[in-house]
Amino acid sequence: MKVRLGQRLTDHEAMSLAIRQAQKGAGFVAPNPLVGCVILDQEQRLLSLGYHRRWGGDHAEVEALKKIPTQDRRRALQGAQVFVTLEPCAHQGLTPSCAHELIRWPLAKVIYGLKDPNPKVSGKGAEIIRQKGISCEQADFLQGELEDLAEVFLTNMREQRSFIALKVASSLDGKLAMANGESQWITNESSRHHVQYLRGIYQAVLIGRQTLLKDQPRLNSRHPRFQDRQNTVIVLDPKGQSLDGLAHSSLAQVRPLDKIVLVLSERRKKALGPRGRIGFELLFCPELESGQLDLLWLSRELYRQGIASILVEGGAHTHSQFLQQGPADRLYQFLGPVLMGGPQAIGWTEGLQIQSFQERLVLRRMKAFKLEDNILVTGCLGR
Ligand SMILES: NC(=O)c1ccc[n+]([C@@H]2O[C@H](COP(=O)([O-])OP(=O)(O)OC[C@H]3O[C@@H](n4cnc5c(N)ncnc54)[C@H](OP(=O)(O)O)[C@@H]3O)[C@@H](O)[C@H]2O)c1
Repeated sequence: MKVRLGQRLTDHEAMSLAIRQAQKGAGFVAPNPLVGCVILDQEQRLLSLGYHRRWGGDHAEVEALKKIPTQDRRRALQGAQVFVTLEPCAHQGLTPSCAHELIRWPLAKVIYGLKDPNPKVSGKGAEIIRQKGISCEQADFLQGELEDLAEVFLTNMREQRSFIALKVASSLDGKLAMANGESQWITNESSRHHVQYLRGIYQAVLIGRQTLLKDQPRLNSRHPRFQDRQNTVIVLDPKGQSLDGLAHSSLAQVRPLDKIVLVLSERRKKALGPRGRIGFELLFCPELESGQLDLLWLSRELYRQGIASILVEGGAHTHSQFLQQGPADRLYQFLGPVLMGGPQAIGWTEGLQIQSFQERLVLRRMKAFKLEDNILVTGCLGR
């Protein structure tokens, strides 16, 4: 829906517009949340809108307030209504607290989408606003969309780990490559363009050792929005078999070595001994009883190191392990109009062990988008 200033909006339309505003900050705000804000005047007409554009910049509420000319601001905001996707913050950080900014104006009400998930500040922003006599309530609509918008931040805060999204390009029968590694191309150019966008909005990309070996991918974003970005790449390689070749790999052609993280099994630490300067980072990860790297531990450790979100790009073993072990929050499955059969083709979940239908994984709030003759299916992964 295209909107113009002065247009009358319902509460639902105003929050939906705030969500679309917030999405424009994707890829630029981490570790902050995506936040959008819409201000309606007392006649429910669109007065201003804004979003959190980049980390360290104005918060959405402040941007929306600033867009109203200074000389008119007080008069225009008389009885106005503010719709913001997340509870206004109560604490002073790089910028002043949004709750304190809002109470400087003669507003009638503030409707926020989600409570701040940080227990130390949750409810405090709303309280500051109410104490000033301005109504401040959580929206009882669009909760699913609001949760999707803030999913990275919510997972970071609630679980203290990186948000994990799985990206798969598969045939209609769920195959992602032939056993000999042939997989280019199952999906079309529009799908691949969208993958470039995803690489821009996630802070890091992760792959298994076999994908590095067979595909020799670069995994940077060639999307126009993120072109000068050098993203971090994480490679799961428990035995450290790519150690010697990594500095000359396809990954190292497009990013400095310190943007590459090689994840090895903790058990390899002693055996490897001191290696002098290698340029890229080594991360030693504990193993589970199954002998697999402990991916929950890894998602916590990477979050501790400042990585808020990770796009896992396969292959099958790696995807299956994330699904099996649990840190798997969102799926992006690009389906090409191809059938690849078996057993010579690799199914993207073939390492996932599910004993009964009850244990099945489901996609909540599943959506599908047509990308010419491909389909993108996305949703939240869970039991
Ligand atoms: N169509 C697509 O979207 C897509 C995307 C990516 C890849 N691919 C294709 O998929 C194929 C590769 O898939 P793949 O399943 O063979 O390999 P993979 O997932 O790329 O790599 C598997 C290897 O990574 C390591 N690894 C991954 N997770 C681990 C864990 N939790 N614990 C310990 N080690 C872990 C293991 O290394 P060790 O062997 O050293 O134990 C494992 O054998 C390639 O042919 C590639 O072209 C397709």
